[in-house]
Amino acid sequence: MTTRRTPWLSGLLTLAMALTASTAALAQQRVLRIISDRTDQGTLRPMLEAFEAKSGAKVTGVFLDQGLVNRLESRPTEADVVITKDAELLELAAERGLLSPFKSAAISASIPPEFMDPQGRFFVDAYRARIIFYSKARVKPSDLSSYEALADPKWKGRICVRSGSHDYNLALFGQFFASFGDDKARKVITGIADNLARAPKGNDREQAKAIFEGKCDLALMNTYYHPMMAANPDQKAWADSVGVYFPSQAGKGTFIMRSAVGLTKASENRDLGLQLMEFLASREGQQKMVDATKQYAVHRDVPVHPLMVKLGAEQGLVDGKFRMDFVPLVAMAGRRDQVIKLVNEIGFDSGQ
Ligand SMILES: [Fe+2]
Repeated sequence: MTTRRTPWLSGLLTLAMALTASTAALAQQRVLRIISDRTDQGTLRPMLEAFEAKSGAKVTGVFLDQGLVNRLESRPTEADVVITKDAELLELAAERGLLSPFKSAAISASIPPEFMDPQGRFFVDAYRARIIFYSKARVKPSDLSSYEALADPKWKGRICVRSGSHDYNLALFGQFFASFGDDKARKVITGIADNLARAPKGNDREQAKAIFEGKCDLALMNTYYHPMMAANPDQKAWADSVGVYFPSQAGKGTFIMRSAVGLTKASENRDLGLQLMEFLASREGQQKMVDATKQYAVHRDVPVHPLMVKLGAEQGLVDGKFRMDFVPLVAMAGRRDQVIKLVNEIGFDSGQ
């Protein structure tokens, strides 16, 4: 009997050992939890996979399009790291005490000081510019100059833009307030509203589509949409029909929009969270960010993406480099509310 049982026993033993081994492996694999307003399978994926391979940790996440700060406020330790498309949200989260300050020599070495939160609670991991896309058929770059000039009556009925209360326009118009002063900002935003070809609708790409279809001649959009549309067979014709123009190069410069990363108040995986942040700040992480999002790196040694270097060449920009009107995030405090109030007051989204 013993001889007949042995294969059973040894089989069970092997199975038990295998189970123990895999349980141990699972127990050893650490899990880093992130929260982000980016999508799971979208632009974050290559960076997270590279980090998983490097660290041996598994990254899980909560992904939500809207309401990032409120979610952090209601569940402050649900995630270890917060990654956002919109650094203003982290400024807001920091003001509400939802972020945990960190110190990292690696991050300080990679990230220029203007992209670090002065109180060390988050850093800007990349940026894009919010600029003018114009119809190549109906507009010449020499017809364009500054953001302020978009309020000129010559553009009456010719501008398309997404909702004035979308985060992207809140960030842009908020910078108008911070840089131009209240009176001028109100005039420019009201002037743009007066010049709209239609009530704001759709996302950024749909404004380029409207230019392609002849519904308008100008749009306000983020830089990365040009290469992204060009790479999409369904949208290539939209990209081909538009040129891009970096406003105010002869003046204070073009406004940027920042993405950012910070540590939450959760403490269990703080070291691992910091490791992810150091990776995102590193040359390799920055290159992956640029490749995936077609944004501009904050790391000094990561060049403008090849698909972005020609942007602005028609207006004389070299290597895709442009002058920026840099508004510190702290100067944006209260600007969102100011813009929302104005946008509602003038009926920006109802069209003219
Ligand atoms: Fe976008």
